[in-house]
Amino acid sequence: KIIVLDFGSQYNQLITRRIREFGVYSELLSHNISAAKVKAMQPKGIIFSGGPNSVYDKDAFRVDPEIFNLGIPILGICYGMQLMAQILPGGVVESAASREYGHADIHVTNSSTPIFKDLPADQTVWMSHGDLVTKVPDGFVQTATSKNCPIAGMADAKHKLYGLQFHTEVRNTEYGREILRHFAFDIAGARSNWTMDDFIEMQIEKIRQEVGSRKVLLGLSGGVDSSVVGVLLHKAIGKQLTCIFVDHGLLRKGEAKQVMDSLVGKFGLNIIKVDAQKRFLDKLAGVSEPEKKRKIIGNEFIQVFNDEAIKLKDIDFLAQGTLYTDVIESGTDTAQTIKSHHNVGGLPKDMHFKLIEPLRTLFKDEARELGEKLGMPETLVWRQPFPGPGLGIRVIGEITPDKLKIVRDSDFILRDEIKKAGLMRDIWQYFTVLPGFRSVGVMGDGRTYDYTIGIRAVNSIDGMTADFARIPWDVLQKISVRIVNEVDHVNRVVYDITSKPPSTIEWE
Ligand code: XMP
Repeated sequence: KIIVLDFGSQYNQLITRRIREFGVYSELLSHNISAAKVKAMQPKGIIFSGGPNSVYDKDAFRVDPEIFNLGIPILGICYGMQLMAQILPGGVVESAASREYGHADIHVTNSSTPIFKDLPADQTVWMSHGDLVTKVPDGFVQTATSKNCPIAGMADAKHKLYGLQFHTEVRNTEYGREILRHFAFDIAGARSNWTMDDFIEMQIEKIRQEVGSRKVLLGLSGGVDSSVVGVLLHKAIGKQLTCIFVDHGLLRKGEAKQVMDSLVGKFGLNIIKVDAQKRFLDKLAGVSEPEKKRKIIGNEFIQVFNDEAIKLKDIDFLAQGTLYTDVIESGTDTAQTIKSHHNVGGLPKDMHFKLIEPLRTLFKDEARELGEKLGMPETLVWRQPFPGPGLGIRVIGEITPDKLKIVRDSDFILRDEIKKAGLMRDIWQYFTVLPGFRSVGVMGDGRTYDYTIGIRAVNSIDGMTADFARIPWDVLQKISVRIVNEVDHVNRVVYDITSKPPSTIEWE
């Protein structure tokens, strides 16, 4: 395995992910780890991540200097390289005249260094730094240079110590993957023998150790992440896991049944399904302001969850499907407390849970791979994002059971046709909305005065920005014909062709 020490960079977990992509196990550890502990773990290599500090800051993150004496190959990236230069004799780090951020062109000056093996001498890389190394430590040579950063790379090949000022782990660095590969295989001598199955085994072992004979509660949303956690935990601790699944009546057509059939029927999870449709609809009656609707749904959700959780005795742990992207803003030392505040804030004070978050080192696509490995069906694992307030924010304005039915039925047709066209994995998110106004149409020989359905389909990486998806015309036509024919009280279908910004993805 290769360990990555965390100095607080936004990209820290991305390094472990890149290494795992090579089939080599990698995990992110605190920079506070002692050299003795590192030695006991017997990693093939160590990577120091980047970080926001200057090595001269009073509270700058440090590393146990004994780590350099273990004889284990080390690659320092950005701050990691500067820290090496500062700790090792002879090295000098200075603050740059100005911060450098973005693309840069480097020139490899030492082609015999294995880190740049067989790569072109001129490469584009991604830089993000305020300080730079101005003198390499004793025994090191410069390996690369750039206009603003004379020492963009350094190496002490004899002791297998390497430093790179740029970020190899981001895609903007042209040969980043090859460089990391050279470090992992050619320099550290790692072997490609790790798979997601190993991750599952490790997590199961870890969960069993932590939980012992105690009990765990999991709130299921029907989404990918909580479902994967459910199946994983069930595999680890079986009946010691209880799940609560709140059906607020704002789910998509067949969704509650699909989740129950699969998770209870196929996997045997113990799920308490709470039918709270009426509770939610009563609370929402007469409310049309979007933010107010969202607040009501959010609060009611916590209420219903609590009412059920309180009935359960002896629960010690609360499990969550937190992904790495949810904790990206905080490092490994602080992340735990920040998350628990966010997510269990609504639970009564007298319930003291410890958190279990088995997916917190994974990215979304890794969580999906994990789900597939656990034998979960495609319909669960490849679910598109679905907002907590559900269809409640897709019926624009006041929610009534009739309007919910229109949006639910039209959404089902859209999903069905997208699936038939084989576009399920090509479009990030797609759904219908009911704007709530009516317009004139003609059906048979008669005039109609009925609702319009809007189709919303977008592509996005993280939901922060989005571009409207280009669904082929013939697929759109099928969807339109079916919606008008099969859903009562709809006589018009429109296609939303705005991106985010200036629109948002949802209409409310
Ligand atoms: P917007 O509409 O803000 O949506 O562009 C961005 C992404 O977030 C989803 N979304 C939510 N997800 N709770 C959620 O869990 C919510 O209240 C919520 N509102 C929006 C939305 O579906 C899109 O993927």
